[in-house]
Amino acid sequence: MKHIVILGSTGSIGASTLDIVSRFPDHFAILGLTAGTNDEKLEQQIRTFHPRVVALSSETAAQRLRARLTNHPVEILSGEKGLCTVASAPDSDLVISAIVGGSGLMPTMAAIRAGRAVALANKEPMVMAGQMMQEEAHKQGKRIFPIDSEHSAVFQSLEGHRKQDVRRIMLTASGGPFWNWSVDQMKHVTPDQALQHPNWKMGAKITIDSATMMNKGLEVIEARWLFDVPPNQIEMVIHRESIIHSLVEYCDGSVIAQLGFPDMRTPIAYALNYPERISLEPPLLDLGKIGNLTFYPSDFEKFPCSKLAYEALEGGGGLPATLNAANEIAVQAFLNNEIAFLDISRLIRDTMNAYTPHALTTIEDALEIDRWAREKASVLVKAFTK
Ligand SMILES: NC(=O)c1ccc[n+]([C@@H]2O[C@H](COP(=O)([O-])OP(=O)(O)OC[C@H]3O[C@@H](n4cnc5c(N)ncnc54)[C@H](OP(=O)(O)O)[C@@H]3O)[C@@H](O)[C@H]2O)c1
Repeated sequence: MKHIVILGSTGSIGASTLDIVSRFPDHFAILGLTAGTNDEKLEQQIRTFHPRVVALSSETAAQRLRARLTNHPVEILSGEKGLCTVASAPDSDLVISAIVGGSGLMPTMAAIRAGRAVALANKEPMVMAGQMMQEEAHKQGKRIFPIDSEHSAVFQSLEGHRKQDVRRIMLTASGGPFWNWSVDQMKHVTPDQALQHPNWKMGAKITIDSATMMNKGLEVIEARWLFDVPPNQIEMVIHRESIIHSLVEYCDGSVIAQLGFPDMRTPIAYALNYPERISLEPPLLDLGKIGNLTFYPSDFEKFPCSKLAYEALEGGGGLPATLNAANEIAVQAFLNNEIAFLDISRLIRDTMNAYTPHALTTIEDALEIDRWAREKASVLVKAFTK
């Protein structure tokens, strides 16, 4: 029996993980869960999965939950400290990191520091402080398993091969809903349009990131640290059908890929039960029926966010954390109808231009840069306000 903690259990990845756990009660038990503010959904999950400890980032939401669960044995914590306590709970075998955004950094780091194995969906902490997270995991003798479908595909395509034989990692991208729109057409994109992803059903932030192609940029940075591969060996290619989840090219010309229907339960299950696979019984992948798999080069001019991510990686230091924080502010401002879709990349660029090199040697440095960039981007939002 594996004892699992899920950080961000009320979100899209959290729900998919719990779906797998519910189907394999003899394999997995839930030890801890966390959420942001959604105490009602967390209450349902507590009643179904009986965790020993939970936490909400909101103290008000935690108070509401305590009031409703007075006779329940679950321990209810709150705030960042509470999230970190759940993340580092003793006796857990695996922590699923699935909070959205930079808020996941400290809880994920708490799990790594406590020597827990971590399966990572929450890519933003890797963008902010990937090197430090990997160094700490190595120190603890633990691996960080990828959950992102592209990184799970790369992880699987690397299995059994020598790292020095890798020539290139190719991350596939669906291209989102606007891949064939002109820049002129994208001027008037609404949040509702941007929230319609062609292939995946995900939380709002990553769905907007997919529409701007920032998601692929964040994934390039995530891949850099997860697989310790230099940025010039990580490329992206548009693949509309999201059947090939990513590929690794080797020095002899062999290209190894992982394929499957776009269903996050597949990479989650692989991380949950590595190295054994779980029988999820999905429909058979009928390539004859699918017919065509299509590919296009990515267009950095039309989708500058992914280019900004390469620039951040190249600039190093606190630039990736700056990019990430500015993106979070810009996405929220777009969802609030404060700025236009095309202003997301402009806001990020302006914030990056305002960044002056800052030491990045500790997690506190990353948090400080994150705080500065959020403040800067929030001020800049006003200049772009519609
Ligand atoms: N969804 C996917 O298919 C997918 C695929 C690959 C990678 N990812 C990555 O996985 C992460 C989660 O994505 P998602 O789509 O599952 O997001 P989501 O549906 O928006 O869920 C986010 C989770 O984080 C919690 N949360 C939000 N703000 C928080 C805060 N300040 N402190 C603590 N918890 C907070 C939410 O709690 P409440 O419900 O209470 O707000 C929820 O449980 C993201 O980093 C994303 O890039 C997702």
